[in-house]
Amino acid sequence: MASRRNVLKAGARSAASMVPLMLGLPACGQTVACEGPVEAASDRPLRAQAEDRGLLFGVAADRGALEGDLSYAQSIAAECSLLTPENDMKWQALRPKPDSFAFDDADWLVTFAEENGLRVHGHTLAWHYQLPDWFETTVDSANASSFLRDHIETVVGRYAGRVRSWDVVNEAIEPQDGRDDGLRRTPWLQRLGPDYIDLAYHAAAEADPDAVLVYNDYDIEYEGGYFEDRRRHLLDLLTGMVERGVPIHALGVQSHLRGHHQPEFDSFIAFLAEVADLGLDLMVTELDVRDHELAADVAERDCGVAATYQAYLDAVLDQPRLRSLAVWGLSDRYSWLSEFEPRDDGLPVRPLPLDREMKRKPAWNAISKALAG
Ligand code: G3I
Repeated sequence: MASRRNVLKAGARSAASMVPLMLGLPACGQTVACEGPVEAASDRPLRAQAEDRGLLFGVAADRGALEGDLSYAQSIAAECSLLTPENDMKWQALRPKPDSFAFDDADWLVTFAEENGLRVHGHTLAWHYQLPDWFETTVDSANASSFLRDHIETVVGRYAGRVRSWDVVNEAIEPQDGRDDGLRRTPWLQRLGPDYIDLAYHAAAEADPDAVLVYNDYDIEYEGGYFEDRRRHLLDLLTGMVERGVPIHALGVQSHLRGHHQPEFDSFIAFLAEVADLGLDLMVTELDVRDHELAADVAERDCGVAATYQAYLDAVLDQPRLRSLAVWGLSDRYSWLSEFEPRDDGLPVRPLPLDREMKRKPAWNAISKALAG
C-alpha cells in the first residue's frame, strides 16, 4: 500500500520502453498512418521534458488507485507535476448528505500531491453528472443558488492556496439539447437558468482569489460540423463571460481523442487563437486516445495511438498560452475507457502513455517527441 510518503523513495522508476514502433499498415478503421518507429526525444520523466517548455505535465487519478497500487503511485510521482482528482472532488464523492461534506479522499490526494511535488487541479465544482443521489429531490429552484454557492465556498475555501486551479464549470455546452445558446439542460440550468455559470465563477473567485478558474469541455478538437457547432457555442459562452467580467482565466480542452479519426486540427487551432484573443489561457486537461476502433494487433494499435498523440500535440504545444498538458490516467491499467468505450473484441484498451505494467509505450515516446518540438 503506497503511503503518503514520497513514493519515489520506495522503489525504482519504470524502465523506459524504447520499443520502437513496428511499421503498422493501416488496419480496419485505422486512418492514422503510422509513419514509422517513434523514438522518444529523451528518457527523462515527462514532467521534466514538459518543464523545459514551461508546462506542467498532469494526470487524473483517485485515492483508491494511488493508495492501493504502489507501482502506479511511483509512476505518477516520477512522471507528473500536476494531479487532477479523477472522481474524488466531484459532488458524488464530497457530498454524502445535503448538510455534510466528506473530504478524506480529497485531502489524501492533495497531501499525496504536495508530498511528491505535484500541483493540484481541482475537478469539478459544477457538472451535470456524478451528483449525489439526494440532489434531484433536495435541490430546487429556490435553494439551488445557495447549494451551489455554499459547495463552492466550502470546497474552494478549504483548499485555498493548495489547489491552484479549478474546473469550475464542466461540460455546459450541448447543442443537441436544442437551446439557441447551445447550453446543456443541466440540473443547474434547469433550476437557475444560464446564470448558474457566472454564479459559480464568482463564488470560486471569492473563495480563493488566487485560484486559476477554468471552463472545461470536450469534443471541440476535430474537423466537421458536430465539432464546429460545439466550438461556436463555446466561443459565444466564453466571449459573453469575459464581456460580463466573469472571473474566468483559462479554457480546459479535455482532448479525449479518437485513434480512428483523421488527425486534422486546423479549425481547432483557429478557434484557440480566438480564445487567446479573449485573454484566456489554455490547458489540455484530459488527454487520451480511444483505440476501440483500431486494429487488435498491439503494435499496430499502439502505433495509431502514438500517431494521434503526436499529431495533436504538434498542433497544440505551439499555443503560446498553453499552461499544462494532462492525461486522463497514466497507465492503461486505469482508464475510464475500459468501462465506457471497451473494444468489441474484448481486448484491453491501450489509450495511455504507460501500459498495464507501467512500462512506457510508443504513446509515451510520441509525447516526448512532441514536447521536444
Ligand atoms: O464510487 C463508486 C463505487 O462505490 C461503486 O462500487 C462503483 C460501482 O460501479 O461505482 C463507483 O463510481 C464510479 C466512479 O467513476 C468512481 O470510480 C462510477 O460508477 C463511474 O461511472 C465513474 O466514472 C467516471 C466518469 O467520469 C463518470 O462520468 C470515470 O471514473 C471518470 O474518469 C470520468 O471522468 C470524466 C470527467 O470527470 C469529465 N470529463 C469526461 C471524463 C470521462 O467521462
